[in-house]
Amino acid sequence: MQNFETETTPYSRLSTIYDYVMRHVDYVHWAHYVSSLLARHKVKPNRVLDLACGTGSLAIELYRQKFDVLGADGCREMLDVAIEKARKLRYPIPFYHRNLLDLDDLPPCDAVLCLYDSINYLMSPEKIARALNEVHRIVNPNGVFVVDICTESNSRQYFCNMESEDSGDGFSYRRHSYYEKGVQYNKFDIHFEDTDEVVKEVHQQRIYSLETIEEILDKSPFEMVGAYGGFGYAPPTEFSDRVHFVLKK
Ligand SMILES: C[S@@+](CC[C@H](N)C(=O)[O-])C[C@H]1O[C@@H](n2cnc3c(N)ncnc32)[C@H](O)[C@@H]1O
Repeated sequence: MQNFETETTPYSRLSTIYDYVMRHVDYVHWAHYVSSLLARHKVKPNRVLDLACGTGSLAIELYRQKFDVLGADGCREMLDVAIEKARKLRYPIPFYHRNLLDLDDLPPCDAVLCLYDSINYLMSPEKIARALNEVHRIVNPNGVFVVDICTESNSRQYFCNMESEDSGDGFSYRRHSYYEKGVQYNKFDIHFEDTDEVVKEVHQQRIYSLETIEEILDKSPFEMVGAYGGFGYAPPTEFSDRVHFVLKK
C-alpha cells in the first residue's frame, strides 16, 4: 500500500485518537474540582456550558454529577466524537459547533467552563478579550466563567523539546513538543495503519504570564473572584502548572 502524508488542521484527525492520547487525564477528578469551585463561590447552576469541550469527556462527567450540561467546540471532528460518546451512553447532552470568538445564539448559562488549556489556543490578548466578552454575553447575572491556563512553568517542564511515541489499535503516533518565544508547539505525526496514511497536525498555544492574564481579566467585564494554582485552593505561583480562574458576572 502507498504511504501518503497530509497536513491537516489541529484536532481534525487527532480527534479519532484524542481519548487514547489523553487517557492519563482524570476527568472525574476534574469534574469534582469544578463542582467544588462552583460550591466555593456559591453558584448553584441550572445549566453549565463546557466550552472547547473537545470529545466531551468532562461534559459527560458533569452530566453524571447531575448537572444540566451543554458542550461546544470549534472543531467539528472533536464534536462528532463527543456526540457519539453521549449517544452510546444515552446522555441527552446538546453539542454545538462554535468558535470561542463567536458564541452566537448559545442559550444563557449559569456557569461556563473552558478548561484544559483551550484558551491558550487564542494567540493574542485581543482574542482572549474578545472571547471573554462573548462568554459574558451568555452567562446569566451572578453566574461564573471558570477558565484555566497552561503556565510557562508547565511548558518548560513538560513541553521543552520532548519527543514521544506510542501506538494503539490501528494507529501509532509521534509527538514533538517544544516551547519557543512564548509559544508551545505540539507536532503530531499520526500513522493510520488501515490506509497507511500519515497525518501531520501542528498545534500552537500562546503561554501568557500570570501578570498578562490578570491584566486582560481586569479589563474584562467579569470580576475575578478566585485564582487557584493547580487543582488546589491556594493562590497560584510562578511554579503552578495550571491556574484556574473563577470570574463572576
Ligand atoms: C486541549 S483540547 C481540550 C478539550 C477538552 N476541554 C478536554 O478537556 O479534553 C483543546 C480544545 O479546544 C478547542 N479549540 C481550540 N481553539 C478553539 C476556538 N477558537 N474555538 C473553539 N474551540 C477551540 C479544540 O478544538 C480542542 O477541542
